[in-house]
Amino acid sequence: MKINLTNIKKAKKLLKSNECVAIPTETVYGLAGNAYSDIACKKIFTLKKRPKNNPLIVHYHDLKQLNNDCNYNDSFLKLYKKFCPGPITFILNLKKNTKISKIATNYKKTLAIRFPNHKITKRLLKIIDFPLAAPSANLSSKVSAVTSSDVREDFGKKIKYVLEGGKSSLGLESTIIDLRNKPKILRLGSMEISIIKNALKKKIYLNNNPPKIYSPGQLKLHYSPGIPIRLNAKKSRINEAYLLIKKKKKTQINHFFLSKNGNLKEAAKNLYSLLRKIKKDNYRSIAVDKIPNKGIGRTINDRLIRAAKFR
Ligand code: TXA
Ligand code: MG
Repeated sequence: MKINLTNIKKAKKLLKSNECVAIPTETVYGLAGNAYSDIACKKIFTLKKRPKNNPLIVHYHDLKQLNNDCNYNDSFLKLYKKFCPGPITFILNLKKNTKISKIATNYKKTLAIRFPNHKITKRLLKIIDFPLAAPSANLSSKVSAVTSSDVREDFGKKIKYVLEGGKSSLGLESTIIDLRNKPKILRLGSMEISIIKNALKKKIYLNNNPPKIYSPGQLKLHYSPGIPIRLNAKKSRINEAYLLIKKKKKTQINHFFLSKNGNLKEAAKNLYSLLRKIKKDNYRSIAVDKIPNKGIGRTINDRLIRAAKFR
C-alpha cells in the first residue's frame, strides 16, 4: 500500500480539531482521537457504545513521544527494542504530570500503550504532536474491523473519515502484557507468548480469564458476529455455516475456509472477515471446526470461545 500524504494530512486536520478518524494498523483498524483531549476521547466512547469504565489503548510513534506520559522499566525496554513497532500492548504507570485525558483512562493510574506497525499510521503519528487513543474500530462487544469497509459497515456516516490502509496484515488484536511487576499477559493476541518469553527470559503469568474483570478485552462475550457459534464441530447442521481450518476436497456452499492448508497465521488473518461474511450471508449460526491450540491458534480459540457466549 502506497503512502498517500493528502489522506494522511486530512486525518491530521480532523484529529487536531478533536474529531475521530479510523486508522489502519497491522492488527485491526483503530478508532482514533487525540489522547490528550477529553472531547475527542468522549466521542470515541459514544461512537463505539463502549462502557465508560473500559479504558482506551494509546498509540505512539516512538519512545520519545512516550516519555511525556509514562514511566517504564528494563523489561519494557527490552521488549520495546525487540518488538516495536509491533503487535504488543504494554500496561505502564502514568506519570503524574501526564496530559493523557482522564476520560481515556477512566481515572486509572495506568495506561495501555502500543506502537503500531503500519506505514500509513506510523507516518500520521510522526506528523502530529499528540498520541492517539484508539480502541478497535468496531461496535463494543462485536467483531473487530480488518478493512476500511468493515469500519464503514459498523459506523456508516457517523465517522468523519476512514484512513485507507488495506487489509490488516495480522487480523487479530495485539497481545497485552502488564510489566509493572511480574510479567502478566492480560489478553492473548497477535504476538505469541513464547516469543515474548524467549526475549524476556522470565516466567510469564497468564491472566486471560481472571475472576474479576480487569481488562474488558477479557469480557466473556466479545468478538461476536451476533449469531450463535458451535465449537469443535465435526459437521454442520441445516442453515448453519461451517468454518473450517483448511480447504476440503469436496466443498459445499456453506463451507468457509480459514486457510488453504491449515496455516494458522493465514487463519488468524481471515477469521474476522469470514465471521462478518457469514453473518452478511444470513446464516443463522456457525459451526466451527477444531482449531489446533498452538501458536497463534491459541488466540484464535480465545476469540472463538468468547464469541460463542452469544445466545
Ligand atoms: O491491536 C490492538 O490492540 C488494537 C489496535 C487498534 O491497536 N486495539 C484494541 O483496542 O484492540 P481495544 O480497546 O479493543 O482493546 C484494548 C484492551 C481493552 O480490553 C481494554 O480493557 C484494555 O485493552 N486496557 C486498556 N487500558 C488498560 C489498562 N490501563 N489496564 C488494563 N487493561 C487495559
Ligand atoms: Mg476491541
